Amino acid sequence: MGIYENHIFPVIMDIALAGVKEDRRELIGQASGKTLEIGMGSGVNLPFYTNAVSKVVGLEPCAAVVETAKRRLAAWDAKGALQTAAGSFEFHVGGSEQLPFEDHTFDTVIACLVFCTIPDAKSAATEMYRVLRPGGKLLFYEHVCSPDVWMSRIQRLVNPFWKIFACGCHLHRDTEFLFQEAGFDFQTIRRYRNERMSPPFAAWMIRGEATK
Ligand SMILES: C[S@@+](CC[C@H](N)C(=O)[O-])C[C@H]1O[C@@H](n2cnc3c(N)ncnc32)[C@H](O)[C@@H]1O
Repeated sequence: MGIYENHIFPVIMDIALAGVKEDRRELIGQASGKTLEIGMGSGVNLPFYTNAVSKVVGLEPCAAVVETAKRRLAAWDAKGALQTAAGSFEFHVGGSEQLPFEDHTFDTVIACLVFCTIPDAKSAATEMYRVLRPGGKLLFYEHVCSPDVWMSRIQRLVNPFWKIFACGCHLHRDTEFLFQEAGFDFQTIRRYRNERMSPPFAAWMIRGEATK
């Protein structure tokens, strides 16, 4: 991975996604027990975990980005900005297609703006299902393919260029189908266009909760 992927794009992303901070807070605030966040990036969600979590395992394939997350955690801790003890967080470098955890390990798994980017998203969904305990919850917040025929065509047209700029992000993933296929049972799902997401052609979202 180069300077762009390691250092520049994560900053662009944090700026571009500043408008969805409250959505993040709401999603992450529902996590409880032993929690896994895949593709956690530079740790932007860390301050939103409440003391309902017993442990948070953050997984991210880019080692330099994991280091940034560790530095941010220490800085937030020093400022008293964390809602749960800094010692509850553990970081792993790795992709989510093969998770290094036993079956039924987690009470909560989080997929936040990550299924767009995972190269083998089907395997990642299957793995998330495997490591979740029966009755455990998947909390998701993902941008997906537009249900509008013309917009989905635009997404497909723009995608080859967008993928280069956005480090592998796909604009038209059907993540709802992937979760369903992996075995998840949707408890709540909202499909909508989020005005606060940028760019506008990545604004079609699914968010909610599914269980195993
Ligand atoms: C759009 S960023 C989102 C980061 C963070 N989840 C957030 O909410 O801001 C996508 C993230 O997915 C990570 N990623 C890429 N390939 C992955 C994989 N195979 N498994 C898990 N995460 C991956 C990227 O490194 C990047 O941090």
